[in-house]
Amino acid sequence: MARSIILDCDPGHDDALALLLALASPEEIELLAVTTVAGNAPLARTSENARKLLTLAGRLDVPVYAGCARPILVEPAHAQAVHGETGLDGAELPPPRVPLADGHAVQAIVRAVMERPPGTVSLCAVGPLTNLALAVLLEPAIVPRLAEIVVMGGAIGLGNVTPAAEFNFWADPHAAAVVMGCGAPITLVPLELTHKVRLTPARLAALRALGTPLARVLADLLTFYDGRYRARGDQDGAALHDPCAVAWLVRPELFTGRRARVAIVTEPGLCRGRSVVDLRPPAPEDANALVLTEVDTEGFFALLLARLARL
Ligand code: BDR
Ligand code: CA
Repeated sequence: MARSIILDCDPGHDDALALLLALASPEEIELLAVTTVAGNAPLARTSENARKLLTLAGRLDVPVYAGCARPILVEPAHAQAVHGETGLDGAELPPPRVPLADGHAVQAIVRAVMERPPGTVSLCAVGPLTNLALAVLLEPAIVPRLAEIVVMGGAIGLGNVTPAAEFNFWADPHAAAVVMGCGAPITLVPLELTHKVRLTPARLAALRALGTPLARVLADLLTFYDGRYRARGDQDGAALHDPCAVAWLVRPELFTGRRARVAIVTEPGLCRGRSVVDLRPPAPEDANALVLTEVDTEGFFALLLARLARL
């Protein structure tokens, strides 16, 4: 039976892939809603991008709720150096035909979790965790009702936005601390995992060769994204961070992970947003996350292409 999920995102090229993979996987995922947050670009941009992507996929039935326009305490900072001015540069997307749904994303998350039977809703977060943190604070009773929270964020070792921190956790470290400490079952998808899932010229060509209008737009978007990685000195190709979180929900057998205690540094300075991941054996009694460490990369791309071909 398909799992009911809410995708919280800041599209974002890799967020776009996460969303499209979820839409293309109805056997495994019932997408209840998309909630947006400021992250890769300001909130108005990420919300518009989510609406455009749903329009591109012809899924006008999925509601998009706009969420938090800024982090809890730190100053807003975006990743337009990687994703371009719009947050989704590289291709012309159709004008959005999906309106923004009424109400705030945080309230929409709380409502969906409280209205549905306990243990049936999963949250999949692939941007800064501001919306999820506020939902936990607004209605703590959602926590024991959640099936799972899947978070793309953090790093065991080297970060990407600073040596110490990964972007989503750095962009709102206080939100990351609230969510990682909330007590719900959490699967963490850190940089070490997503850096195993890179674009290559052959993978881009295979996507384009699907030949559908959507695949062509996506190939143009990802060519831009890949170019930004390479221009910034990362010749291994762009990492497809966010679709890894959705792929975990679709095909968990592609991944392996280890249970660990994960804590977040919220203090300003060199280590802001750092995730301290205690992978020392044995797994501690107070482990708060399953940290994904290995992925079948070829299996991931086979899944992604097969699913995108359906759209
Ligand atoms: C994360 O940061 C964003 O730029 C990506 O969309 C991804 O969610 C990777 O650090
Ligand atoms: Ca993202």
